[in-house]
Amino acid sequence: MEGRVDQYAVVGHPVAHSLSPFIHSLFARQTGQAVSYRLMDAPPEQFIERVSEFFAAGGRGVNITLPHKTRAMTLASELTERARLAGAVNTLAARRDGTLLGDNTDGAGLVQDLTVNLGVRVRERSVLLIGAGGAARGVIAPLIALAPRRIVITNRTAERAVALAAVFAGLGALEGCGFAELAGQAFDIIINATSASLTGELPAVPATAFAADTFCYDMAYGRGDTAFVRWARELGCRRAVPGWGMLVEQAAESFRLWRGVRPLTAPVLAALTGRNAELGAGGAD
Ligand code: ATR
Repeated sequence: MEGRVDQYAVVGHPVAHSLSPFIHSLFARQTGQAVSYRLMDAPPEQFIERVSEFFAAGGRGVNITLPHKTRAMTLASELTERARLAGAVNTLAARRDGTLLGDNTDGAGLVQDLTVNLGVRVRERSVLLIGAGGAARGVIAPLIALAPRRIVITNRTAERAVALAAVFAGLGALEGCGFAELAGQAFDIIINATSASLTGELPAVPATAFAADTFCYDMAYGRGDTAFVRWARELGCRRAVPGWGMLVEQAAESFRLWRGVRPLTAPVLAALTGRNAELGAGGAD
C-alpha cells in the first residue's frame, strides 16, 4: 500500500463497467480527501481471499457489486440493521480493531434519489415493486419506512414475490403476486428492480398498472433511456427516470460511512450523466 493515501476498491465480476471509481474520485476531490479507489475483479471462488488480502494490506473499505453482495455478508463481523434486512452487503468498512462492518447503502440511495432529488412523495401512495431478486430485497425496508399506503411486489416467478413479501410482512402493508394478478390495478409509483433492463428486455407487467400520473423509476441505467423508461413513456407516463441518481446516492452513503462526510451529489450526477453520454456505459453497481 502506497504512502498515506487510504485505499478503497469496488469488487465485482465482471467489474470493468463500474462507474464507482469515477464517482468516488469526484467525491474525494470535492471533499479534499486523499483516497485511492480502484477496480478489483474477483470471480466468486476468489472473492473472500481477494477481499481479505486487500484489508490485510491496510485497505480501508470496499464496495461490493454483482455477484458478491450476499457472499460479502460472511466477511463482516457486524452488520448494520439495513444490511441485515437487505440480506446483502454493498459496503465493507475497516474498523480500528481490524474487524469489518458490513452495510448496505442501496436502499438509502434509492430513497434519497426518489424523495430528495426527484421530489416524489411516497407517503400514503401505492407502490409497485417489480422483481424479487437481491436488488428488490435491498430496497423493501427503506421503502416501507416511507409509509406508503401499500407496496405490491410482483415478479415473473410469482412464488419468489410471495416469499419475499412474507419476509417483510411484519414491517408494513405488503403483498406479493405474479404479473397476471395485477390486471386492472394502477399504481402511483412503479419501481423496476428486475435485471431485465440490462438485456434490453421488459417485465411483462400489464399496461393497466401505468397511469399518466404514475411515477416510474428504473433502478438500472444506461446510455439514453432504459427499455423500461421508454416503455413507461410510451404508455403515457409523464415521469419515468433511470437509476443514475440511486447509483450516485448509494456511493455518497458509502463515502460518508468511510470518510465521515457526505459529498454533494448533484455535481457528480451531472458529470456522470454527461460522461455516460460520451462513453455509452451502463449497468448496475
Ligand atoms: P438481482 O440481484 O439483480 O436482483 P436476481 O436475484 O437474479 O438479480 O433477480 C433478477 C430479477 O429480475 C428477478 O426478479 C427476475 O425474475 P425471476 O425471479 O422470474 O427470474 C427478474 N428478471 C430478469 N429478467 C427478466 C425478464 N426478462 N422479465 C421479467 N423479469 C425478469
